[in-house]
Amino acid sequence: MTDRCTEAPAHKPWIVVCGSLAAAVTLLVAQAHARPAADPLAPAGRWEGSTSGSASTPPMGWNSWNAFRTEVDEGKVLGAAQVLVDSGLAKLGYNHVILDDGWWMKRRTSDGRLQIRTGIFPSAATGGPDGTSFKPFTDKLHAMGFKAGIYTDIGRNACSQAYDLHSPNLPQGTTAEREVGLDGHVKQDINLYFKEWGFDYIKIDACGLADFVPGSTLVKEQKYRAMAPLIERGSNSRTDIEAVRTRYETVAAAIRAARPAGDYVMSICAWGMANVRSWGKDVGNLWRTSADITPSWTSMLHNFDSAAKRALYAGPGHWNDPDILHIGHGAFDAANPVEVRSHFSLWAMINAPLLVSYDLRNGPASLLEVLGNADLVGLNQDKAGHQGVVTYDSDDAQIIVKTLGDGQRKAVALFNRGATPAPVTLMAGHMKLADGAPVTLRNLWTKDRITFTGEKAFTLAPHETLVFEATGKRQLDNGVYLSEIPGSINVAVDGTRQPQNDPTIHRMIDPWSSTRSGGTRAQYAGWGGAQADTTPYGQSLQVAGQVFESGLGVLSNSRLQVNNDAGHARLTASVGVDDSADDATQPVQFYVHGDGKLLAQSAPAKLGARAQTLTADIRGVKVIELVVRGGQAGTAPPVVATWGDARLTHAAGSVSSAKAQPAGMP
Ligand code: GLA
Repeated sequence: MTDRCTEAPAHKPWIVVCGSLAAAVTLLVAQAHARPAADPLAPAGRWEGSTSGSASTPPMGWNSWNAFRTEVDEGKVLGAAQVLVDSGLAKLGYNHVILDDGWWMKRRTSDGRLQIRTGIFPSAATGGPDGTSFKPFTDKLHAMGFKAGIYTDIGRNACSQAYDLHSPNLPQGTTAEREVGLDGHVKQDINLYFKEWGFDYIKIDACGLADFVPGSTLVKEQKYRAMAPLIERGSNSRTDIEAVRTRYETVAAAIRAARPAGDYVMSICAWGMANVRSWGKDVGNLWRTSADITPSWTSMLHNFDSAAKRALYAGPGHWNDPDILHIGHGAFDAANPVEVRSHFSLWAMINAPLLVSYDLRNGPASLLEVLGNADLVGLNQDKAGHQGVVTYDSDDAQIIVKTLGDGQRKAVALFNRGATPAPVTLMAGHMKLADGAPVTLRNLWTKDRITFTGEKAFTLAPHETLVFEATGKRQLDNGVYLSEIPGSINVAVDGTRQPQNDPTIHRMIDPWSSTRSGGTRAQYAGWGGAQADTTPYGQSLQVAGQVFESGLGVLSNSRLQVNNDAGHARLTASVGVDDSADDATQPVQFYVHGDGKLLAQSAPAKLGARAQTLTADIRGVKVIELVVRGGQAGTAPPVVATWGDARLTHAAGSVSSAKAQPAGMP
């Protein structure tokens, strides 16, 4: 069976090529709905952020990989599920149980049906014409109240077939029988997983597109069918980004068809490669932003960094995934309570999936207590889905602030990345709270309360993270800064011309190759993407010397969408070319659209010109779109553009004009 005529990818319906009349009709209909490819900056007039699947908050639960690698079995998985129930963690929200790599025996060549390794999953030995089935297994998990998750690969072969060659649980048989990945079997496998076997969650790895290189020792010795790699780790120019994205889109379409009610979660596991940090949000519910986490402090830093500055790319239904938790092992075992709490706090603050992955049956109670911190889980699962924003940044310490749903409360984390004590002064302004009014902090680990006005000094122990819920007088008491609500923003077009690797991610000694190279290089595209409270390159927002503590930093030729479900009445921003831009010749223009109609536009702005104030009456508007057009789209490098102090307010009265005027004018 092939997938040649499956649904077209949403962003390029014209590529559907298949023979039947039905498909030709699909093509025409899809084209009729397609945005004119010529102008991706034209307002869509409707929310384009992905709304598929069932991940309105970050997925929580347990995954088998870090606990058992391929030496997983039915007893171990069900044992973990039982601990989740008995400990109360399931009730707290840990409701996915995900079986990772290691479960398969082979693909039956007569009909392509996957067969389960019944030696380790005895309930799968159902016999009959199907041979094996996971239905009894998922029935058990469902009866316990869980959603069930399964693992596959987007290529022909899985990661264990490249990296766990010693494993007793690798697929067996001929070359074809060992091709257990989705390639060539998308519809068949997805229907098997979701319709027949009853899984609700799928993790889709990508080694099949990266590691089975023609002529390689691996391919020769293991007798795999070679595949010219579509992903070359760390090299954007040698990775076929569009082909990788299209494959995941094809799978997404098959999942939607199998689960039309949208009761599924799709996890993309392309480890931050193929520019997935930019497009993952449009295709799946979560996407890995980096390589596999290992149980070391520096690996945790690396994975945290890969997601922490991507707040505008996440929101309800779509989450940055810095990988499953490594709590329970190495630097995060029970002997390292500070590191355990830090790892958990950081994942909670940036809306990462909270997927536990150690042998819960044999773990200490102290770890369950950490995972069971209802305050931490609550902030991760806050319905508004605003990822924490790094509001103070350095290599030594960071302050991360997350707006909680009601807009009145904030969560704030003070994080000491280093191995020596760190002085950290928290200012009301870091949380966009007023300087002159008292701020109350409730420590979400100790439950202690403290109150301060203006600023408060702390000394953080090595690797310590303090997390507080903060209440005080908000700087904007009749609205929000857009940088406070990243979960309500969809980066439709971020203006990056070429994928560029992000140099700000902690460069650990690679645990696999050690120091056998010239050094660790930046490897994940996404540099230059839209940012909350900084420029796309991490500089302070500043236009003609005027500094903006709040705002959105973008590149020219970008289009952001803002969901105005909260019913704000007015948008205000001070806009201009950021002082960090290096091209003084190119003018840019800023536009505000409401439900597709132009509401405000700036005059052309160049580097060095004062910020212009834009205001727009957005009463009744559902979707606001913020567009920056650069003079020479397509040729010249993008210009750094700043939406300074961009805010939505409930101010009474109408705003009459959409005219721009220099900031500071009456
Ligand atoms: C890759 C993934 C891991 C895990 C293994 C399984 O390395 O990134 O999370 O799924 O494959 O082999």
